[in-house]
Amino acid sequence: MKILGISAGRRSGNCELLTKQALKGAEAAGCEVQFLRLQDFKILPCTGCTACITRKYSGLQSACTIPDDADDYAKYVDLVLEADGFIIAAPCYNLTVAGRMLDANNRKHCFLTQLKERCAAQPKFAATIGVGGSDWTNFLMPVLNFVANEHCGSKLNLVDQILVENNSEPGLVILDDQLLDRAYKLGENVAGVVLAQDAAHPYRGDSEEVCPLCHGSHLQLYHGKLICPTCNTVAHVTEEDGKIVITWETPAELSRWSEYGDKLHMGAIRSGAQRFHQNKDAIQEKAAQLRGYLEPVKP
Ligand SMILES: Cc1cc2nc3c(=O)[nH]c(=O)nc-3n(C[C@H](O)[C@H](O)[C@H](O)COP(=O)(O)O)c2cc1C
Repeated sequence: MKILGISAGRRSGNCELLTKQALKGAEAAGCEVQFLRLQDFKILPCTGCTACITRKYSGLQSACTIPDDADDYAKYVDLVLEADGFIIAAPCYNLTVAGRMLDANNRKHCFLTQLKERCAAQPKFAATIGVGGSDWTNFLMPVLNFVANEHCGSKLNLVDQILVENNSEPGLVILDDQLLDRAYKLGENVAGVVLAQDAAHPYRGDSEEVCPLCHGSHLQLYHGKLICPTCNTVAHVTEEDGKIVITWETPAELSRWSEYGDKLHMGAIRSGAQRFHQNKDAIQEKAAQLRGYLEPVKP
C-alpha cells in the first residue's frame, strides 16, 4: 500500500517537514511512501473550457484540452491514481489554501472518471496538514479537507487533520516536538486505515469539530438555514447550560457526498447545459450587446 505525501509549501518549509514526518509514521506502520513538492511541478490552471465535464456527462472518459506536454499535470495524475492514501499539506495564503494546491485540484475533473473507477474498486484515504504564519487561517482547513476528499474520488475519506498556526518562517515547526509526534501519529493513522481498508469509520482525528460527517468546524447561513458548507447538511443550534448544542436535520444519505447528493449535483449541471443549448441564439444575441463594449486590457 502506497501513501503519497503532497506539500504545497516551500522547499524545506513547514508543510514539507511535517509531511515528511507524517510519512515516516506511515512507513513505520507498514506502507510504502512517496513525497512530492507541488512547487516542483508546473501545473497550468484550468481554463474553464468544460470539455472534461461535457465528456463525463456524455458517458465518455474525462480528458483535458491542455496537452499533456504543456505541463507536468499528467505525472501528477499518475501519482494520484497509483496512491492508496494521501497526506496533503498546504500553507495558508490569504485565509485559505495556497493557490498552487487549488490549481492542481481544479484540473482534477480531467481524470475524474479514472479516479472514481479506481476509488470504487478500492477506496483511497487522506489526511491533511494546514500551516498558517498567524491565526488568520479561517478558510484553510475546510478547503484543504475538501481537496483531500476530492483526491479520494469525492468520498468523505478523511482520516486525520492538523491545523498549525503561528509558524511563519520556513522550518519553525521543527522546534515543536509535540507537533512532530502528532504529525508522525497522523501518518500512522493514515497507514492504519489504508491497510485495514476501514472505509466505514476512517476518521481518527481529534480537532474541534461541528460536523460529524466532514469533521469541519464551520457553519454557513444559507437561504435562511444554517448549513455545514462542506456537506450541505442543515444544522440547528441551541444553547443548554451555557454550551452550544448542534443537532443535524439532514441525514448523511442526503449530504453533498452521498449518491443522492451526487445525482442532485449532476442534475444541476445537466439542467444548466440544457438551458444553454435551448437558448444559444438568445445568448449570442444578448451577449453581443456587451461583447463589443470595452476591450480587455492586455498585459
Ligand atoms: C502570499 C502569502 C499569504 C499568506 N497568508 C497567510 C494568511 O492569510 N494567514 C496565515 O496565517 N499565514 C499566511 N501566510 C504565511 C504562511 O502560511 C506561513 O509562512 C507558512 O508557514 C508557510 O508554509 P511553508 O513553510 O510550508 O511554505 C501567507 C504567506 C504568503 C507567502
